Formats: sequence, structure tokens, C-alpha cells
Amino acid sequence: MKILIVYHSYYNNNTKKVALTFNEIANGKLINLNRDKDCNLNLDDYELIGLGSGVYKESLSPTIFKLINKLDFTNKNVFVFSTSGVGLRFYNKSLIKALKARGAKVRGDFACKGSFVAKDFSDNRIFDIIGRLSMGHPNDKDLKKAKKFMRKLLESL
Ligand SMILES: Cc1cc2nc3c(=O)[nH]c(=O)nc-3n(C[C@H](O)[C@H](O)[C@H](O)COP(=O)(O)O)c2cc1C
Repeated sequence: MKILIVYHSYYNNNTKKVALTFNEIANGKLINLNRDKDCNLNLDDYELIGLGSGVYKESLSPTIFKLINKLDFTNKNVFVFSTSGVGLRFYNKSLIKALKARGAKVRGDFACKGSFVAKDFSDNRIFDIIGRLSMGHPNDKDLKKAKKFMRKLLESL
């Protein structure tokens, strides 16, 4: 199966670690939007497409949304992933919705914590606490879960 994993990971490479781990199982093509923002993608070449990023101010990367708005996902199998301070799948929802609106079949989504330093983006004390809890993530356990997710996804197709 031909697999493409596209990600935007500009802060700490947290999402990049997850993408690379997925690809240990998927053996597909990886595109890092940090390097290749204007990549010319032909989705016809792929049977499964993964899209992911870090969460920046409550949202996945605008670069990912900009990219998908240029593409036709009709009947394409896709999955979504993210890393964030809180590590919740909740943040994946808006990308899932946008992909469905473009005709994609969303086969699953994955999320885990990604370390950050609160003062890099907020003075709010709550982020101090969340930041401390996120230290060391994604860790071995997160990456093991990422592999399990990918194995299950591939089995289901
Ligand atoms: C500018 C900025 C804003 C962030 N906003 C949030 C947020 O709203 N919610 C959250 O849970 N984490 C937030 N984080 C933490 C990141 O989502 C987390 O560190 C993520 O793993 C970064 O991914 P990356 O290293 O792949 O870029 C933020 C981090 C930065 C730098």
C-alpha cells in the first residue's frame, strides 16, 4: 500500500518524532512542511494519507489547513494526528471535519503529549502546570502507542 505522511512540526520536533515512528511501520513517503511548504502533491499516487501537526494556540497548524484546501480528497483514506501540551484527541476534530468536507474517509486519529515551555507562548499559570506535565513527551510509551495505532490502521484497510 502506498502511504504518504505529511506533517508540520516547527516548535520542538515533537510531531516529527510521531511521524517518523508511524513511518517505521508504514514505510511510506514523509513530507515535512517546515522544509517544503509549497509541495506539489498528487494524491492519486497514494492509498492512505496521514496529516498531522503540533497544536499552536488551540489549533493544528494553519499550514496543514492551507494545504488540504488545495487538494481533492474524494474517497481518499486518511488519518489525522497531533501532539499538544495536553495531548488530547479533541484538537484533531477541526482537521477531521475539514477533511471530511473535502470528501476524505477518515480512518482514525492519534494524539499524544508534546513537551513545551509555558513561557514560550503564555503567561497563564495553568500552562506552567501543563508544561511541566508534558516534559519528556512524546516518550517511549507514546511512541509505542503510535506504532500500535499504525499497525491497527493498516490491518483495518
Ligand atoms: C506558540 C505555541 C502555542 C501552543 N498552544 C498550545 C495549546 O493551545 N494547547 C496545548 O495543549 N499545547 C499548546 N502548545 C504546545 C504544543 O502543542 C506542543 O509543544 C507540541 O508538541 C508542539 O509540536 P511540534 O514540536 O511538533 O511543533 C503550544 C506551543 C507553542 C509553541
